[in-house]
Amino acid sequence: MPPTPTDRATGTEPPAEAVTPLIRGIAVLRRLTDEGGTMSPSALERATGLARSTVDRIVATLVRMEYVRVEGRDVVLAPRLMELGNAYLSALRLPDLLGGRADALADALDESVSLAVADGDGIRFVHQATRRRAMSLSFRIGDPLPVERTAPGPLLAAGWDEEEWRRWRERRAEDPDGGAFPAAPPRPPADEAEFAARAGRAGRDGWALDDQLIEPGLVALAVPVRAPDGSPDCFLSVVSHTSRHTAASLRETLLPRLLAAAGEMERELREAPPAAPDSPTALASWTGASKQELGRDFNESLARGLSVMAAFGAGRDALTLSEVARATGLARATARRALITLEHLGYVTARDRTHHLTPRVLALGYPPLSRAALPQIAQPHLAALTERVRDSASLAVLVGDEVQYVARVATRRIMNVNITVGTRFPAYATSMGRVLLAALPEAERDARLARSTPHALTGRTVTDRDELRTVLDRVRAASWALVDEELEAGLRSLAVPVRDRHGAVVAAVNVAMHAGSRTLEECASDVLPALREAAARIEADLHPTERFVRVPAL
Ligand code: PHB
Repeated sequence: MPPTPTDRATGTEPPAEAVTPLIRGIAVLRRLTDEGGTMSPSALERATGLARSTVDRIVATLVRMEYVRVEGRDVVLAPRLMELGNAYLSALRLPDLLGGRADALADALDESVSLAVADGDGIRFVHQATRRRAMSLSFRIGDPLPVERTAPGPLLAAGWDEEEWRRWRERRAEDPDGGAFPAAPPRPPADEAEFAARAGRAGRDGWALDDQLIEPGLVALAVPVRAPDGSPDCFLSVVSHTSRHTAASLRETLLPRLLAAAGEMERELREAPPAAPDSPTALASWTGASKQELGRDFNESLARGLSVMAAFGAGRDALTLSEVARATGLARATARRALITLEHLGYVTARDRTHHLTPRVLALGYPPLSRAALPQIAQPHLAALTERVRDSASLAVLVGDEVQYVARVATRRIMNVNITVGTRFPAYATSMGRVLLAALPEAERDARLARSTPHALTGRTVTDRDELRTVLDRVRAASWALVDEELEAGLRSLAVPVRDRHGAVVAAVNVAMHAGSRTLEECASDVLPALREAAARIEADLHPTERFVRVPAL
C-alpha cells in the first residue's frame, strides 16, 4: 500500500508549477462532499474563501462536465462525478476481486462486512456489504475514519514507523475536533498510550476490536488481508450492534470465520491474473467542443486537471506521464502540471516513473453520491421531462404482479392526482407494468400470466392472456408501451425501460396524460423522444453510481 500524504499536504505551499484553478476546483468539490452534496454558492464562497466570481466560474465548469448541477439556488453534486472514484477503485482492483467474497461473508454471518484501506493516518472504506437493519449504522464507500477509533486502525498502526506516529500526533494536535473525518460523530480524543498499546496487541494477535469507539452501540472486529510480503493490502471488518453482540462475543464467535475469509481473500489476490486493461477512457465530452461552445466561464485548466484522474482504471493503475498524456489527449506539459498539482494535494502518488491514484480520490463526491437510491437519481430527470412535455412523469418498479411508483413529478392539470409514490397498480394494465413484464425472461413472464387473472378495469382493458402475450412481445421488440384508457377512462400513458449497466431492465419511466390531449401520432412524435431521452439521462447517472455500489430501487 503506497503511503499517502495526509490532509496537511494541502496546507503546505503548492509547488510553482501547480495549476491554481485545479486546486480551487478540488477545494469546491471537497467542501460539497463534506457538506453532504449540496451547498449554496454563497456558502461555498464562505467555506472556500474564494471570490464569488471564482466560485461561479468553477461551478460553470463543473456543470459543463456534469460533475455538479444547479438545483434552484443550490449547487448539487451529480452522479457523473463518481467516475473519478470509480477510476481509483477500478485501478485498486480489491473491490472487484474481493467484493463478492465480502458479500457472501455478510450473508453467511448475517452481519455487515466491510473492506477498508489505509489512507494516511486514517482508513477509508472501499467496499460495504450492508445488512438492512433498524439498529445498524453503516459507513459508506469513501468515508474516512480516524485510525484510533476503528477496528482496522490498530492493525494499520502496528506497522507504523516513528515518522508515521509523528504524523498521527501532528494531525491530532492540528485537528482535535476531527474535521477531517466528517462521517465520524465527534468524541473527545483517545489517549495516545492506550492506542499505542492497542496497536501493539493488534500486531501480535492479528485482529483488533472497535468497542463502540466510533459510535455508541457499534462493535466491529477486523483482520488484515495481507500481500505476499506481509504488509496489509486492506482490512476486513465485521460490524455489529450491541443489541446482538458485545465486542468480546463478536471475537469469540466470528474471529475464526473472519480469519478464514481473509485467508481466502489473500489467495484470491495472489492467484488473480493481471487485470485486462480497461479500454482507455473516452475523451471527456467537453474536449471536442470549441471555446465558443464552452463559454467564457469554462475553465479548461480545471477540466483538464480533473480528466487526468479519469485516465486511470483497471489495468491502468500505474501510468507514466506519456500514458496519462495519451489517455487524456493533453499535451505532456499540461498533463505533467496536473499530475504535480494532484500529487501536491494528495490524490496522486508517484513511484519510480509511474503515477497512482490514492484513496483520497474517493473524497471527491463518493460518500454522499454512493448513498443515492434510484428514485433520487431519477428525480431531476423526471422534473425536466415534466417541464418539457407538461404532463406528469413517474418511475416505477415491479413488485410481485404490480407496478409500484417510486418517484413522481406531477403537473397540476392532470386528472390522476391521487397517484403518489408508493401507489401500486396491476402490471398488466399499465404502460410501465408492460415494459417491466416484457423484459422478464419468457418463461417467467408466461408463468406470471398463467397464475394471474387479468380483469377489466375499464371497457378497454386487455384481459385475454394470449392477447396480452402478443402485446408484451410487441412492447419488448419496440422497447416502449402505450396504454390507452385500460387502467382508467380518459387516461393514457406511455412508458420506456430504464436499464442498468449490464443492460437489464430495472425500472420503467412514463408520461401520463389525458387521452384527449394528443393524437396517438403526437404521442409517438413528441412524447416518446422526450421519454427516451429522460430514460437515457437516468441511465447515464445510474451506471457510474452502481459500478461499485448496490443502488436500491426504492
Ligand atoms: C464499518 O464497516 O462500518 C466499520 C468497520 C470498522 C469499524 C467501524 C465501522 O471499526
